[in-house]
Amino acid sequence: MSITTLGQFIIEKQKDFPFAKGELSRLLRDIGIAAKIISREVNKAGLTQILGDHGSVNVQGEDVKKLDIIGNETFIWALTKGGEVCAMASEENDEIIPLDGVYSKSGKYVVCIDPLDGSSNIDVNVSIGTIFSIYRRISEPGTDVTEKDVLQAGNRLVASGYVVYGTSTMLVYSTGKGVNGFTLDPSIGEFCLSHPDIKTPKTGKIYSTNEGNAGEYSEGLKNYLAWVKETNKEEGRPYSARYIGSMVADFHRNLLKGGVFIYPPTAKAPNGKLRLMFECIPMAFLTEQAGGKATLGNGFRVLDVEPEKLHQRVPIVMGSSEMVDKVEEFMKA
Ligand code: AHG
Ligand code: MN
Ligand code: MN
Repeated sequence: MSITTLGQFIIEKQKDFPFAKGELSRLLRDIGIAAKIISREVNKAGLTQILGDHGSVNVQGEDVKKLDIIGNETFIWALTKGGEVCAMASEENDEIIPLDGVYSKSGKYVVCIDPLDGSSNIDVNVSIGTIFSIYRRISEPGTDVTEKDVLQAGNRLVASGYVVYGTSTMLVYSTGKGVNGFTLDPSIGEFCLSHPDIKTPKTGKIYSTNEGNAGEYSEGLKNYLAWVKETNKEEGRPYSARYIGSMVADFHRNLLKGGVFIYPPTAKAPNGKLRLMFECIPMAFLTEQAGGKATLGNGFRVLDVEPEKLHQRVPIVMGSSEMVDKVEEFMKA
């Protein structure tokens, strides 16, 4: 048989880190377990009355869906049980969440999650996702963990990844040595390596942005959006507009096919909408690991932003490197 499961792959890759003691491997395995549980819940969502609003509003003022809560609690459970993580930060919680497992306090790692990305698509059976990122804590293991342990720039990331609950469930992650994708085989309940060493094309024909907001975009970006629609056979224009509204799904498609994802500042969201810690940094890391680029739209690398607040938002332009350069060229003009 020639399959490689996620668990086998993680163990094989441990040799890339000669001083590793296996904690990161166990942590990644725990994330895989949480992902399988959430995938199960997502798949039968319509049958078990977990669709719809939870009735509360999160720290960002957004309606919380029942699956947001299930995703969040599943991760807290899996990472508490594992003991490698001392604290988590989640899009769904105001403050960091110190974990209270038997070994958590001496855990070396902190984890940030967007447990359910694309919540607005849950009720209509459209792809959604989970995003995670892992940092080494700054404080001494055994001491009390603080927000400082979590508020670290993306250039200090140890690993990040996402799970996309689409026509199949896939887990894609990187520990800084390339990007690998695994597809869940429901018949054996395992993520199996299906997309080894993903490289994103240098250029593509897809642009992804909520063009309904374009009236609020900068002149430069409006000009770019006019440019992508011009006919130019040699350059393969007009481009195709593709926007699902679940960043994970939009990202996954563009990663494989080549494309650019843009969430710029708007009147409603003057710093952009997407969250630095929970969405932008983890995806920027994967983009770079796959050979692409992720910036704030002004040449500044997302991974070099020093975070100030847990729920901080930033604008983002990300994807195929030549396409990101092109967007920036227009934005600069
Ligand atoms: P979340 O469901 O975690 O709140 O994230 C939704 C995000 C992201 O997935 C998506 O790219 C973006 O919001 C869509 O926003 P617009 O509806 O403003 O385009
Ligand atoms: Mn999200
Ligand atoms: Mn979310």
